Amino acid sequence: MTGSNTGVGKELACILYGANASVYIACRDESKAKTAMEWIRHAHPKSTGALSFLPLDLADLEAVARSAQSFLDKESRLDALINNAGVMHPPPGSVTKQGHELQLGVHNLGPVLLAEMLAPLLAKTAAAEKAVGQRATVRVVWVASLYAEMGSPDGGVDINNLGYTKKDESKYTKYSISKAGVFYQGAEYARRHRAEGIVSVVSGCYLMRFSLSHDYSWCVYCAPRKLTSG
Ligand SMILES: NC(=O)c1ccc[n+]([C@@H]2O[C@H](COP(=O)([O-])OP(=O)(O)OC[C@H]3O[C@@H](n4cnc5c(N)ncnc54)[C@H](OP(=O)(O)O)[C@@H]3O)[C@@H](O)[C@H]2O)c1
Repeated sequence: MTGSNTGVGKELACILYGANASVYIACRDESKAKTAMEWIRHAHPKSTGALSFLPLDLADLEAVARSAQSFLDKESRLDALINNAGVMHPPPGSVTKQGHELQLGVHNLGPVLLAEMLAPLLAKTAAAEKAVGQRATVRVVWVASLYAEMGSPDGGVDINNLGYTKKDESKYTKYSISKAGVFYQGAEYARRHRAEGIVSVVSGCYLMRFSLSHDYSWCVYCAPRKLTSG
């Protein structure tokens, strides 16, 4: 679970741990991860699951590759990868270590690399489930946003301007474009990996009162609409 030291990710990690899952809190800051893990353990003292920290910076593709490899070195199965980490409206000009627009890096490039590197292990897990007659439950979840529908540019995304050097766009448009991309990558991942038994699901349109949306006093909790593209 990426970005699970806080917000939506922490809540979902807590639910999964409460259901006795082994959950990796994949995020940048170990001390924040430890605080989240303590909170989660406190919420479910009887859980037989496990909580671990996986260092992950989605704004650096080399670091993403290292994280994926360290997970592969440690684990022999993976039932779900939840690409939840997000960043909204960073200061103008924010870029990843490799120089990509930050939201594009954190929502699109980093998660796709992570999911592709973990695909063989997800596929192995799906095959093991199938061998014992289980229905397909192995999945990758991609967290999009209402903004993908509300804020994407009319007429589509200029694929040759994703660095915004040709024409700058507002912070809302940049966020929206990156979240629209999440729908496309979820669908493309399904196309590539459904034959291996991996379900790719995009969680779409919702608003929640967490830190990322702290500036929206009107935020209300709405049930996520799920698009199953697997
Ligand atoms: N809240 C809403 O109303 C809402 C609405 C629509 C969609 N969403 C989506 O839901 C997801 C979670 O939102 P939230 O409200 O829970 O946000 P949040 O509380 O701000 O949490 C964001 C998480 O992403 C992590 N993150 C940011 N940059 C990262 C990076 N470079 N590498 C690794 N992790 C990074 C953060 O870790 P650090 O602590 O290290 O920064 C944090 O754990 C996001 O994808 C967001 O776009 C939220």
